[in-house]
Amino acid sequence: MAEPIRVVVTGAAGQIAYSLLYQIGSGEVFGKDQPLILHLLDIPPMMSVLEGVVMEIADCALPLVKEVVPTADPAVAFKDVEAAFLVGAMPRKEGMERKDLLSANVRIFKVQGEALDKYAKKSVKVLVVGNPANTNALICSKYAPSIPRQNFSAMTRLDQNRAKAQIAARLGIGVSAVRNVIIWGNHSSTQFPDARNATADIGKGAPVPVYEAVKDDAWLQGDFVTTVQKRGAAVISARKMSSAMSAAKAAADHMHDLWFGTAPGEVVSMGVISDGSYGAPPDVVFSFPVTIKNKQWEIAQGLPLDDFGKEKLAITGKELLEERTEALAVCESCNL
Ligand code: NAI
Repeated sequence: MAEPIRVVVTGAAGQIAYSLLYQIGSGEVFGKDQPLILHLLDIPPMMSVLEGVVMEIADCALPLVKEVVPTADPAVAFKDVEAAFLVGAMPRKEGMERKDLLSANVRIFKVQGEALDKYAKKSVKVLVVGNPANTNALICSKYAPSIPRQNFSAMTRLDQNRAKAQIAARLGIGVSAVRNVIIWGNHSSTQFPDARNATADIGKGAPVPVYEAVKDDAWLQGDFVTTVQKRGAAVISARKMSSAMSAAKAAADHMHDLWFGTAPGEVVSMGVISDGSYGAPPDVVFSFPVTIKNKQWEIAQGLPLDDFGKEKLAITGKELLEERTEALAVCESCNL
């Protein structure tokens, strides 16, 4: 059997981690023959809750889990890790401005970036889930200069899965029959869920473009887009808590694809450092369609983008530039 790899999950006492840890431990992410040492990071007041999570992992009797390391110390949490799920973040509280939220998170992701830089394997794959995910990933990478910027990504896979599920339901087909829906931009309500390149398997023939199958452009550019953009808020309003099971599944999907690559002819969406492709602002973490091979992503080039799409990309790109400016101002004002 292979040597165990060290995998860290931050926010390990929280609700996303509660679903995610089982998926990792059961081999869904890194493979059924990959032993694991799980590092669980949370803040000191959550250590007793974390103890309960550790007990439950033991009680799951997962053969792949060789050791569990619960800690409140980033130096321990990030030591020699090959994969990092950065889930823990400061949640938005009532009356909190975006600037306050960014400010709290800049500090968290600075500390974690520095710890990754110092203690993690240089090949570590870092997935940022905690919000604002795109800008947190940018800040984390800034403070981990010895780790390639390529290795940092932010999660928009939940949005992709939501979009896929909406289209599948509309067409009355299974989710796996829908491919190549793209999420562009920020993981926020400005994101652009785009079905222009998506295909659907209907009947026995070759996949057909989703626009042809749905035959309702107004829906694909209207309710479909807003439903996906506002799905997180809809879940909160119904459940009184934010998406957790689906967020954990998306984090597992994202890391799985980074590890094993994308299927031929398929793209997945993730927030990655922008090179300005498709007119997106460079040097922000922007969600693009990517293909993945040998654990390296590449932005899929040459996909058609109509004027409607370009307009949407401009809106979400502008928001990411504003977030970057605010986050960097926090870094400067605090001499971070
Ligand atoms: P939660 O509040 O249940 O858990 C968060 C955990 O993070 C808590 O246990 C907290 O103590 C911990 N934490 C806070 N600061 C920390 C630090 N500096 N180091 C380590 N741990 C720390 O929240 P939940 O529901 O698990 O969500 C986590 C994050 O994921 C939130 O920021 C949420 O907005 C975000 N999220 C992102 C999604 C995406 O699609 N990118 C989807 C859903 C949620």
